[in-house]
Amino acid sequence: MAATSMDQLVSLCKRRGFIFQNADIYGGLQGVYDYGPLGVELKNNLKAAWWRAMVYERDDVEGLDAAILTNQKVLHYSGHEDTFSDPMTDCRKCKGRFRADHIKDGKCPNCGSTDLTEPRPFNLMFKTAIGPVDDGSSFGYLRPETAQAIFTQFKNVVDSTSRKLPFGIAQIGKSFRNEITPRNFIFRVREFEQAELEYFVAPGEDEKWHEIWKEERIKWWEEQGLKRENINIYTTPKDDLAHYAKACYDIEYQFPHGMEELEGIANRTDYDLGNHTKAQDEMNLTSHCHANSDSTQKLCIMDDSNKWVVPFVIEPSMGVDRGVLAVMTEAYTEEDLGEGNSRIVLKLKKHLAPIKVAVIPLKKNNEQIMAKCHEIKKNLLKLGIGRVALENTGNIGKAYRRHDEIGTPICITVDFETIEQQPESVTIRDRDTMEQHRVNIADLAAYLRDYFLA
Ligand code: GLY
Repeated sequence: MAATSMDQLVSLCKRRGFIFQNADIYGGLQGVYDYGPLGVELKNNLKAAWWRAMVYERDDVEGLDAAILTNQKVLHYSGHEDTFSDPMTDCRKCKGRFRADHIKDGKCPNCGSTDLTEPRPFNLMFKTAIGPVDDGSSFGYLRPETAQAIFTQFKNVVDSTSRKLPFGIAQIGKSFRNEITPRNFIFRVREFEQAELEYFVAPGEDEKWHEIWKEERIKWWEEQGLKRENINIYTTPKDDLAHYAKACYDIEYQFPHGMEELEGIANRTDYDLGNHTKAQDEMNLTSHCHANSDSTQKLCIMDDSNKWVVPFVIEPSMGVDRGVLAVMTEAYTEEDLGEGNSRIVLKLKKHLAPIKVAVIPLKKNNEQIMAKCHEIKKNLLKLGIGRVALENTGNIGKAYRRHDEIGTPICITVDFETIEQQPESVTIRDRDTMEQHRVNIADLAAYLRDYFLA
């Protein structure tokens, strides 16, 4: 049975150390979460899978890791200062503030009062003082999307790599939005991580590439374990598009709280590079909002016919935290084992599992068995398959239950037979089938290399 409630996931995340409320001991900071010992591994594995698919496996993408603190001018010319806002309504009675589209029948969702203000725009960016004096004269923003630095570094990347169209720049990193009503666990939060690709194409080729990226990204999500029947492609209506987009597909996933956006794939046209470019009138732009008197650069590239053009941009933009929630939702399984027994098992794809192999001694603190466990762990780490954990609890049943719940694909048990009989062998237990069989230690590395890396 797949996860049906967010409560099951939230409980597993806290119990097993995936995700914790930030500043829990002080009552929490709303819309901010911390990744625990297993959450950090899962999130890193998901990001590594994205980077591998977007950068290493392609020949047309470069990486970037830009700063979070953002120059005010960048977000002025990108249009975010003007338009990156939600219409908000205040309740004069309880002083609550709500997104206007969450008000039903003209009543406050908190106290039911009808004494509400007209909707007003509320900018979602976190503004912060920069430098020693906080008098409003010098400020910047925490970036609301990683994309902007990709646009402002466009020329530096092109000049240093000699790229030609089409090509992309990929980046993973934190972004911040002052969401009025953070909700649904790590789904809508104020501090989050994005994995974004800005893929630059010749003007006129954008619609073709928009379709290509939609298909690529659905395929990638399926490789992360999401079933196609739990994915929906939503075409954003024209009047709902972000200020920079000409068209957008949302890859939606069936989260416990409903079918919602996991990744947006937008056609941003020449809007961003155009807005950050000087002398825009020479560039034949299709879309821009501000004449730019501050930029020192033309963000253009020479096309096949030696003409300078401002490329169009297709942007697959994934919410990493939403990705973690999606793969956990899909993997969470409760199995009835008969005779009143059941287990929770997280059937994560093996490349995403936080711990790849658990090495478990049959008997706690037995010197010979523990020495063999350490030796096995040390040798397995050399394979580069990821985290190998050594348990020393002495309770095999409990260890298997814990590793089922956190998604460890393989448990290796070291017992008396291992140290007393030749050739040395261990028991291998498979998470999904629970089947066990013996493997000689001499064959272990090849067995696990095949299992994880083939
Ligand atoms: N860069 C697209 C977004 O942040 O939604």
